[in-house]
Amino acid sequence: MKHATLHQLQVFEAIARFGSFTRAAEELCLTQPTVSQQMKQLTKAVGLPLFEQVGKRLYLTDAGQEVLTVGRDVSERLSQLEMTLADLKGLKQGNLRLAVTTTAKYFVPRLLGPFRQRYPGIKISLQVTNRQRLLERLSENLDDLYILGQPPEHLDISLRPFLENPLVVLAPHDHPLAQQKNIPLQRLAQEPFIMREPGSGTRMAVERFFTENRASIKVEMEIGSNEAIKQSIVGGLGVSVLSRYVLALEGIKGPLTILDVEGFPLQLHWYVLYPASKHLSVVASTFLEYLLDEGKRIAAGIDLELSSK
Ligand code: PGA
Repeated sequence: MKHATLHQLQVFEAIARFGSFTRAAEELCLTQPTVSQQMKQLTKAVGLPLFEQVGKRLYLTDAGQEVLTVGRDVSERLSQLEMTLADLKGLKQGNLRLAVTTTAKYFVPRLLGPFRQRYPGIKISLQVTNRQRLLERLSENLDDLYILGQPPEHLDISLRPFLENPLVVLAPHDHPLAQQKNIPLQRLAQEPFIMREPGSGTRMAVERFFTENRASIKVEMEIGSNEAIKQSIVGGLGVSVLSRYVLALEGIKGPLTILDVEGFPLQLHWYVLYPASKHLSVVASTFLEYLLDEGKRIAAGIDLELSSK
């Protein structure tokens, strides 16, 4: 193992996590041949195969499993070391690793600007993914802080609500229901509905609401992206329920309007969370304080702006 490198272990960890060379290459911004080459060298250093392919699926061999465990240990120890060193240097430098759900991307990036101006030495990485993937990242301890709308119930986490997250019914301006007030839920249920993909927190909240209210909607299409759903609504494919924050840039004077349906907006919240046992770095706890105070004000401002657009 003397010839194995940290980079090879990192590439291997990503392949094991995704079960795919292609997705690992994408995440690490490497080409496929580089990834294959790295794995060839690591396999040579280990002296045993790390993967076996059965049909289309990739499985770890026993040796692969051992390498994965040690590789994750090494990277955890290194990030602890990084954290200790950053703490020793104070807030002058250090890394902040954030992971947010695809809907939080409409306001979190805007909060980062003022934070970076105050602490220019801090490097920020922001992962944007859906709820399910975010919870996987949480269980793999890949980030410092997580921001999402539907917190998990059974994990041992530290959880802080910090902002309202209204879910609204979106339709094009020329929709027949656009001018109506207090539209009955059963009427909405007759409209073709565009739903987020399985694993989305928005989808979870929408399904829960319709089940609790005994209304069944006509799901015409499933789409794994808020932006693509917005385009589909404009294109006349149907209506959808998304966070009001998805209108953050264009407001309701853009091509979409909010329908006045009974029971809406669904009043949800944004939460910031991290594993309860995690020791936050100085950088992460400074960002947490910033988020709960100033960040919250900036984000609430984006939503207020929206109502007046
Ligand atoms: P998602 O995010 O639909 O992209 O998973 C929304 C949420 O966090 O509730």
